[in-house]
Amino acid sequence: MEFKGQEILFTREQIGRRVVELAARISADYAGRELIVIGVLKGAFIFMADLVRALSIPCRVDFARLASYGADAASAGKVVMTKDIETSIRGCDILIVEDIVDTGLTLAFLVDWFRERNPASLKVCAFIDKRRRRRVPFEADYVGFTIDDGFVVGYGLDFDEKARFLPDVHVIETGGE
Ligand code: PRP
Repeated sequence: MEFKGQEILFTREQIGRRVVELAARISADYAGRELIVIGVLKGAFIFMADLVRALSIPCRVDFARLASYGADAASAGKVVMTKDIETSIRGCDILIVEDIVDTGLTLAFLVDWFRERNPASLKVCAFIDKRRRRRVPFEADYVGFTIDDGFVVGYGLDFDEKARFLPDVHVIETGGE
């Protein structure tokens, strides 16, 4: 599938402006504190890189990786941690950074996973909140863009591991969604 030329949903300019707005809010909310920003691989890698560089507060970074299994391989069913963070988070302010919330299963799992380690605070920043397919109630604390449905790629988001590198976010027809 060729992704370039597919409909652009969010341009790189829109994304850049939104990231700066989010980073300003986060920097104000955590003024005087030091954040640990946890990126969820792979999808969050570009968003997180832009977000942390736009913060005006110090932060440390770490990464986790999860896999989900189920009938709908994209995002249904059981979630398992395949790479945990390597930082102690007890008593620390934690911000989880995700590319997308879809069913909510991944983030619900992650929040429980990290809460057990007693951080001082835990919030979630999602680049895209895709709301229609929620299976568990989940609200991110910071959201870049909200969409109803649709398969989006680019800016870290993939289709079958392709298209993560695209600087804009495109909406594609998969034929099966
Ligand atoms: C995607 C995305 C989130 C998750 C969201 O990850 O990055 O982690 O799905 O879906 P959910 O709300 O339905 O749980 P994916 O498993 O595609 O891995 P990737 O980040 O490597 O693309």
